[in-house]
Formats: sequence, C-alpha cells, structure tokens
Amino acid sequence: MNDVLDRLHEMQSHDVPVTGGRTLAYVYDSGLEETDRVGREAVAAYAGSNGLDPTAFPSLLTMENELIGFTADLLDAPDSATGTVTSGGTESVLLAVQGARDSRPDVERPRMVLPVTAHAAFHKAAHYFGVEAVMVDVGEDFRAVPEAMAAAIDDRTVLVVASAPSYAQGVVDPVTEIAAAAAARGVRCHVDACIGGWVLPYAARLGRDLPPWTFAVEGVTSISVDLHKYAYAPKGTSILLHRTAELRRPQFFASAAWPGYTMLNPTMQSTKSGGPLAGAWAVVSSIGDAGYLALTEKVFDGVDRLVAGIEAIDALRVVVRPDSTLVAFATDETCDVFTITDAMTGAGWYVQPQLSFQGGEPTIHLSLSAATADHVEEFLAALGSAVTAAVASGPISIDPGIVDFVGSLDPAGLSDEDFDGLLAAVGMAGGDGVGIPESMAEINALLNLATPALREAMLSAFLDRLQRPTRNPLAT
Ligand SMILES: Cc1ncc(COP(=O)(O)O)c(C=O)c1O
Repeated sequence: MNDVLDRLHEMQSHDVPVTGGRTLAYVYDSGLEETDRVGREAVAAYAGSNGLDPTAFPSLLTMENELIGFTADLLDAPDSATGTVTSGGTESVLLAVQGARDSRPDVERPRMVLPVTAHAAFHKAAHYFGVEAVMVDVGEDFRAVPEAMAAAIDDRTVLVVASAPSYAQGVVDPVTEIAAAAAARGVRCHVDACIGGWVLPYAARLGRDLPPWTFAVEGVTSISVDLHKYAYAPKGTSILLHRTAELRRPQFFASAAWPGYTMLNPTMQSTKSGGPLAGAWAVVSSIGDAGYLALTEKVFDGVDRLVAGIEAIDALRVVVRPDSTLVAFATDETCDVFTITDAMTGAGWYVQPQLSFQGGEPTIHLSLSAATADHVEEFLAALGSAVTAAVASGPISIDPGIVDFVGSLDPAGLSDEDFDGLLAAVGMAGGDGVGIPESMAEINALLNLATPALREAMLSAFLDRLQRPTRNPLAT
C-alpha cells in the first residue's frame, strides 16, 4: 500500500505546487495550513458519498444550502434568491446559458451578447447548446462598452453577459448599465464573477473603489462565483445563484422515461462525489467572514506592491490598473513575454502567458493569492532577473519563411499526418513522439503568430497525442 502512495507522491512532485504562493495561475492558496488540512479531510470523508440524491445524503443538502446562503449574503441577493453548487466555473456558466436558452422556447435561433473579454466557457456553452455568441468589442481599458452591448441586443437575444472581473485583464465591466439595457429588453443578465466574486465584496468593504456588480444592481438575474478560486476551497466547486427560484427552474433536468429511478439533476453531473462540496463547506466555515476580510486585505496589499514593482521594471508595463487580484503585463520591444515566462518557470515561479488577441500584444497573467502576498518582493526580484536575461537575449525572432507558412495554414484542410509534421516542426514533438516540451518560449512565440483557429487545432492535436493510453502499467 505504501508503495502506491510513494509512487503517487513521486509523480505529484513533478507538478506545480498548489501551496507556497509561487504558482500564479490555476491554484489559489490561502496560506492557511490548518484550513487546508481541514478541507482535505472533509474531501476524504465524503469521497464516496453521492450528491445524486440529497434525500439519501441529507448532510450534503444541509452543506449546500448553508453555502448558498453565505454566498447570497455576500452578493447582496434578495430573499427570493436560490442557487446550486456546481463542479466549477465552466459548469456554472454552461448552466446559466442553458437555463437562459430554455427559458425562451419561443426563440428559434437564440443568441447571447458577450464582451470579447468574456471567458471561453461561454464559447463552450455556445458550442454545446447552439446559442450564437455575439461578440462585442471592449474599450481601450478592456471594459465592456454598455452602448455597444445594448446595441447588440435583438429579438433573438436570450442572455447578456458581463464579467466581474474578466480573466485576461482583471477589470470589472460596467454592470449597472449593461444589466439595465438587458432588463429594458426583458433579457436575462448573467454576471460572471467566477474568479472575482469572493474577493470583490470584501475589497469594497475595505474601501477599494469598485463599480457595483452584485444583485444590488437592478437587472442582474444570475451570478457565478467559484469556491475553488478565492474562497480557497479544494478544487471542484462553484456556485450559480439566481435572483429567483423561477429563473433557476429551466436548469433542472428530470427524466422518468426509463425503468430505473427518476433522474433529477440541477447540474450537468448526475452521480457526483460529495467530497468537493464537503471540502468547500469545511473551508468556508473555517475561514468565515472575518477571515475572508483579512485574506482580502492581505492579497490586495500584495497586488498594490506587485503592480508598483512591475511598473518599476524598465521593459515592463501593466496593461491596465486591475480592479481585482489579477494582473496582466506586457513588455516593450526589447524582449518578449515568452522568454520571461520560461525564465520564471526555471526560477520556480509559475506564470501564464496570454497570446495576442485581435491584434493586441501578448501578456503575462498573474492570479495573486493571499499566500503570494508574503513573497511579492522575492517574485519581483526573480522577475527583474528574468527581464534582464530576456533583454540580453533579445526578443525571439522567427524565420520569415515560417511566419508565412504558419500564416498560410488553414486548419480545416489539415490531415492527421499534417498535424504530426507541424507539431514536430514547431518543437511540440521530439524523437520520442509528443511529450511535454522542456521549453515553451519558441512554441508560444509561434502560436502567437497563428490564427485562433490554428491555435485551437494545433493544441487539440497536441493534447490528443499526449492523452494516449499507457498499456498495463498498473498490473501487479
Ligand atoms: C471569469 C471566469 N469565468 C469562468 C471561469 C471558468 O472556471 P473553471 O476553470 O473553474 O471552469 C474562469 C476561470 O478562470 C474565470 O476566470
């Protein structure tokens, strides 16, 4: 048995760390060891339970209702509000779109109006549910433009979306105006606060200058907020809140059209582990309102020092002053973000490159956690060294022939063999086939030149080849 756990821990040691504050994307770290321990124990205690039937597992129902109640208070929800715990931000967004579509059976070819900065989960929802995404340009400050959003609403619109904040640049859209425009046309308005929903209310209480975006805003019909981000819960929980029970109703799926139990699901999953819900309940109960206020104060203090420190590095520029805990910065022409990203990885800091979009510059994204706030000066020192090295080596230059070649590729016309060749040509496959590349800078610089369709196709081809079975490894 111990061998199994040893192997597990050995494999895990090659992953990015989930605690310690040095991973600035994908994980959110409170830095509270005891709370993490309680969360993990709760997950383990409930790993085998099944959220499919709350009458068989009433404790799951109790925990879910308590979490929804806490969140409703946090987000200024009226007494009529109801909600559901889902598996993550994407599921909350999918359900918001599905519910909006199914609330309007009279609309034949439904649409939703999105600022271009809305999370990709909405495009996934468009794809899954046949709701056309109408993309609206944002302003120079990366915030949605209410007049343009209002102008994009038509008789086929079933949903209007705003972010609080957007992932890529960390700014809050003007929700008051957008929700008013939606309400004037009788359309639902969803605020995607998956990543900011748990910190922004505390930031407002701490006196930070933020526009309103919660249910206090007229016309907001639903809000998504992830517990596995800034509630610092273990992975696997988000909340979708609706202003009324009636707005939630189309989200429920019931089927008695078979000989077994009547299937009744408020979420996409049916059988689902109670582990993540119990973990979230335990963490939120442990940290509590006062704890979150303190963690928010700490993380924003870190954000302010981080922003000032990045601005003080010659070659760098923060693209917009963030409303939240997410920071995006770009370089001048002396270096590039991809070289810096690799150097930071080498120095033990995980940062996330963001490719250029609609002619914009590529950036580096940082999601700050409370635990990172203790290490901001260390981070800035590592970043300073990475930038010095990146300036010394100069920006990555790609052979003009390759630039032309990448520009001429239409992914729709490429075969599997073409993708094999392409992955090898750009360094995403070596002699042993496709594996995780050691260095990403050149690959990212190339992907940065590709169209979104080609990026999607190449990365899908890459993942397809990574995810191939290892035959018989577990046989004893
Ligand atoms: C604004 C926003 N919406 C939705 C999501 C999707 O959340 P998840 O990755 O939990 O599915 C994210 C994730 O970062 C996000 O930032």
